[in-house]
Amino acid sequence: MVTEVTNLKDIEPILQKYFKGYILSNDPFEKVLIYTKEKIIAVISYSIIYERGEINYIITLPNYRKKGIASKLLEYALNDMKNCENISLEVSKDNKEAINLYSKYGFKIKTDRKKYYDGKDAYLMVR
Ligand SMILES: CC(C)(COP(=O)(O)OP(=O)(O)OC[C@H]1O[C@@H](n2cnc3c(N)ncnc32)[C@H](O)[C@@H]1OP(=O)(O)O)[C@@H](O)C(=O)NCCC(=O)NCCS
Repeated sequence: MVTEVTNLKDIEPILQKYFKGYILSNDPFEKVLIYTKEKIIAVISYSIIYERGEINYIITLPNYRKKGIASKLLEYALNDMKNCENISLEVSKDNKEAINLYSKYGFKIKTDRKKYYDGKDAYLMVR
């Protein structure tokens, strides 16, 4: 089941475990959707900033990967952003799983983002 998170504290333990050093954002444009099956097993965060969409992060818990769950959440988010002129995101250059996922949904590498994540290079992808 896909639902919107109203209290970000519900997903804080997942974010802190899998995105080391993550601090909850206070982005007023942010929306967070979760996929639950008795417990939270995947999360997507995105922001709709007027005509622009941004995907902040997506994660599926390790035991539930490769089952189409991130795709499902991304489809919900993209549908919510359907009126955006463009949607962008940054992804680490070595994250082939995520690059494949985003490419599958029409995102294209636009440029490099040098030292974007803790000194690691990223791509800017745009749809
Ligand atoms: C990236 C991630 C969210 C994918 O979640 P998932 O639920 O396994 O994704 P799906 O099952 O919906 O897969 C969708 C597509 O992603 C790509 N993909 C997913 N896992 C992959 C893997 N191990 N190797 C290569 N491509 C992969 C494929 O294109 C796949 O489509 P396909 O099944 O038709 O080949 C997951 O690997 C994850 O949580 N990674 C850690 C967090 C992260 O790095 N997030 C992205 C940056 S914020």
